[in-house]
Amino acid sequence: MSLDLDKRQRAMLREMGVRVWQPQPAASEAAATQAANAINTIANAARPQGAEARFDSKPPVMAPQTAPAGVSVPPPLQDVSAPRDILGIERMDWPALQAAVAGCTACALCQGRKNTVFGVGPLAPVDWLIVGEAPGENEDLAGEPFVGQAGKLLDNMLQAMRLQRGNDNAVPKAGVSKSVFITNVLKCRPPANRNPEPSEVAQCAPYLKRQVELLQPKMILALGKFAAHSLLQASVPEVEKIPLGKLRGQVHRYLGVPVVVTYHPAYLLRSLPDKAKAWDDMCLALSVAPTIVRSA
Ligand code: URA
Repeated sequence: MSLDLDKRQRAMLREMGVRVWQPQPAASEAAATQAANAINTIANAARPQGAEARFDSKPPVMAPQTAPAGVSVPPPLQDVSAPRDILGIERMDWPALQAAVAGCTACALCQGRKNTVFGVGPLAPVDWLIVGEAPGENEDLAGEPFVGQAGKLLDNMLQAMRLQRGNDNAVPKAGVSKSVFITNVLKCRPPANRNPEPSEVAQCAPYLKRQVELLQPKMILALGKFAAHSLLQASVPEVEKIPLGKLRGQVHRYLGVPVVVTYHPAYLLRSLPDKAKAWDDMCLALSVAPTIVRSA
């Protein structure tokens, strides 16, 4: 799939390392080339610490729980991966939901956090919702999602789609929409940036659900497998067993909202060839929800 791309979008795609056309180098594009080199430097630099490391790490191996001889252990009463109920969440407005997240102690992640990371963007219906995995160290400190190196790549991906982080105070460039909300499956940082555990995802799932209900996005972009699994759990049987690559290339639904699955930016920093596939995913999403710039 291809799009009509202007010079700025092409520059952004170069920043992502995606080649979609044969450019004639022009003096005025020197800055963009510099930026492209910069992003490749980031990608090739020593493995980033923090959020990015999560994608190398395997799920923690739990020691088998053995009961003393003769003692029978009843099965768990509750499926730990089933989303929990939070009383009255379906009636929460933005301040109530923000307060609920800020005060959440439903799982052990609350003990190690500096901040909860609710998400950034307009607290109003938006065109786009971007869902990542979980805050890393930088995000935990800042209380904002995607502020590290993966976040820089995400910003470039958004710019290529003519979108801009909604909390960016800068006046949006001409033709750019700030109708974007960015959040994560987990609102608290897992220790040492390990993968989220199913029980943690289940505890946090109602917050994401309520965010979607309040935001009413026209498109959800799910970044990486944890976002994909969390959003598609109800609509794709045994979604955890399906490789991310097989969830790409189609439009799923979450609460009736179209969902497109793509690679996580932290993974893309390490896997340059898959940036082209990520651009295909973004084109698919844009074909369903074209960027619309509304005059203020
Ligand atoms: N990775 C994520 O999935 N989310 C963040 O906020 C930062 C890194």
